[in-house]
Amino acid sequence: MNIKNFIFILLFVTIYSFTKIEIYKPNHFPEPFIPEQNQLTEDRIKLGKKLFFDPILSRDSTISCSTCHNPRFAFTDRKEKAVGIKGNVVNRNTPTLTNVAYNNSFMLDGVNPSLENQALVPFHEKNEFDLHILIASDRLLNDSAYVDLSMRAYGKNPSPYVITSALANFQRTLISGNSKYDQHINNNIVLTESEAKGKDLFFNKLHCTECHSGFNFTNYSLTNNGLYEFYPDSGRIRLTGDINDRAVFKVPTLRNIEVTYPYMHDGSINTLENVIYHYMSGGKNHENKHEILKPFFLNTDEVNSLISFLYTLTDTSFINQQ
Ligand code: HEC
Ligand code: HEC
Repeated sequence: MNIKNFIFILLFVTIYSFTKIEIYKPNHFPEPFIPEQNQLTEDRIKLGKKLFFDPILSRDSTISCSTCHNPRFAFTDRKEKAVGIKGNVVNRNTPTLTNVAYNNSFMLDGVNPSLENQALVPFHEKNEFDLHILIASDRLLNDSAYVDLSMRAYGKNPSPYVITSALANFQRTLISGNSKYDQHINNNIVLTESEAKGKDLFFNKLHCTECHSGFNFTNYSLTNNGLYEFYPDSGRIRLTGDINDRAVFKVPTLRNIEVTYPYMHDGSINTLENVIYHYMSGGKNHENKHEILKPFFLNTDEVNSLISFLYTLTDTSFINQQ
């Protein structure tokens, strides 16, 4: 190959690999926010995905992001509280990463402002990776596959910036919008009688959509849903110091809720049936409990219908992705 052709191909490959791509999203979803300096590209997503599944990021190379955020369970772990390096237990339940691109705050108390920032947390947490991110990036520098991919993705060698950016880039592709419920609203797939009854309860008869509203079944607010009178975990007050934020947690999405048990910030409720009993009781008296939460009654048939509606939010193509 002569030098002119070589330069031409090099230029082409460079431009191609930096070309931003559109996020895959269903038409009934809004555009997620993507920071200007971290637009999605094929190589960035590829690098982020490789990092997400690689235990090299933890001190003893045993734990990856996917240990806790397992795609099969909609990026959760089926544990009451997350378990990291050396079997150490984290003090909270692992949240799903379903549609995480749309979150406007991260962590269960909303302490983190961006996905890029959030990606730093597992490194310095003693119970998660327990590895300084500079040591992690030195490890990657010794791996030619990572160096290549990092150059193609960001034009730089592996660094904390590259690691956190790539992880955020990959996570923004975790879009779930192809459940039976989505097929029902887009293509008129018929719900069973029980699912339809549950849908009516959820949207029209109960108060669920006061908080679990919109395309992602959350209004992204932070509130108290009356789980306890005294919370061992103080919630958002840790960040703000404001007593109105005591025991206040983020309203989670209900998408893929069938597979993300156990539930709540501390994994204390095992089944959807028990979640519904919790709401039926009106919740415990806590000074910050949302005022809409009052006792109500459902018979067994109605409880089952509500559960079967919640099951229509399971997106098997999302859970089975490679
Ligand atoms: C040991 C288990 C564990 C590991 C490993 C882990 N996480 Fe998490 N993750 C959690 C827990 C628990 C939370 C909730 C933390 C909190 O609110 O204090 C969380 C929260 C998050 C959130 C915030 C989600 C939201 O809705 O606010 C994101 C994003 C995230 N993790 C991504 C990652 C990435 C990327 C990695 C790898 C670099 C990773 N996690 C590694 C357990 C884990
Ligand atoms: C006032 C706001 C509000 C209302 C109304 C509400 N929820 Fe919630 N819901 C929350 C919050 C906040 C959490 C998370 C609490 C925590 O992490 O401890 C939550 C958690 C859940 C969870 C567990 C999610 C998970 O991933 O752990 C389910 C399931 C759920 N709600 C279903 C419902 C249903 C069904 C209704 C209607 C009967 C309802 N919610 C009404 C605020 C609300």
